Amino acid sequence: MTKITEQTSSPEASDRKSESCSSTVENNTEKQQFEQNQKLKLKLSRIKHKIAIISGKGGVGKSTVTANLAMAFAMNGSVVGVLDADIHGPCIPKMLGIKRQAMMGGPGGMLFPITGKLGVKVVSMDFFLPSDEAPVIWRGPLKMRALQQFLSDVAWGDLDYLFIDLPPGTGDEPLSIMHLIPDMDGVVIVTMPSEVSEAVVKKSVTFAKQIGVPVIGIVENLSGYVCPDCGKKIDIFKSGGGKRISRDLSVPYLGDIPIDPQICDDSDNGLTFMAEKPDLPTAKTFAEIVTKIKQFLENKTTAGEKAQ
Ligand SMILES: Nc1ncnc2c1ncn2[C@@H]1O[C@H](COP(=O)(O)OP(=O)(O)OP(=O)(O)O)[C@@H](O)[C@H]1O
Ligand SMILES: [Mg+2]
Ligand SMILES: [Zn+2]
Repeated sequence: MTKITEQTSSPEASDRKSESCSSTVENNTEKQQFEQNQKLKLKLSRIKHKIAIISGKGGVGKSTVTANLAMAFAMNGSVVGVLDADIHGPCIPKMLGIKRQAMMGGPGGMLFPITGKLGVKVVSMDFFLPSDEAPVIWRGPLKMRALQQFLSDVAWGDLDYLFIDLPPGTGDEPLSIMHLIPDMDGVVIVTMPSEVSEAVVKKSVTFAKQIGVPVIGIVENLSGYVCPDCGKKIDIFKSGGGKRISRDLSVPYLGDIPIDPQICDDSDNGLTFMAEKPDLPTAKTFAEIVTKIKQFLENKTTAGEKAQ
């Protein structure tokens, strides 16, 4: 795991390491693979609920939704972890107001997550980078390995919820995460209200359906702008796309979040509206999204108990 930092220094170094890394993977004996899988299973068995946040397009607000979900559930007294699985563009630590720092190691190569506000435990590639500007230039297998280590070599402990923030689309990271966490409770799909986005969000729904992960629901972010002067809502990108898609594809609709310049400023300063401004109308709407997610998990548990 400590090698991760070295691998970010240059593309050449990254390629060399990636080759040596994949050959290490190949050299792994079946026994080692088995042990690794057992370790992963054990870690996952101590996490009650796992929820991934996905989208078809970039920049629609996945990380904002992840950060606010984490705070909302932690505020209700749950033990929460966030896995920032955006290897190339990790931003969860910044959004949660956690300064860059190295994760501490323990016996047997175990790593300890960084704990932020309300005890939320965070693991991110950001903690392995030497600076804000350092890029991660990795191919798929190396990313998969890093994500596996983020799950199996980290002392997550007992968690009520693990939220996983993913990069956009259906590439290496989402696929790896779904493969590594076979008992994922479901995915929350974030979209914005425009036709183009409708087409891409359908891809996310199809992705989830094809890999057999339940869709908890769709959140429509950047849904209208509330004028700070007169309070009138202006639909800059149109609105209602999320609701329409949910109807078309028979997946639940969780709610919408308007464009609020304050959200942008606050997230740059490590503040989430759920924790810092619970009285804002946006926070109240978001609380309804949280309730629907809880309801989904309760129904799932009840259905599971009945089936037993
Ligand atoms: N409702 C909103 N109102 C105003 N700004 C917002 C809102 N939602 C998100 N933002 C801002 O938009 C930017 C992109 O949001 P965010 O990083 O959450 O998107 P993302 O989907 O995670 O992006 P990426 O695909 O790059 O991971 C951020 O600066 C964030 O603060
Ligand atoms: Mg993001
Ligand atoms: Zn106005």
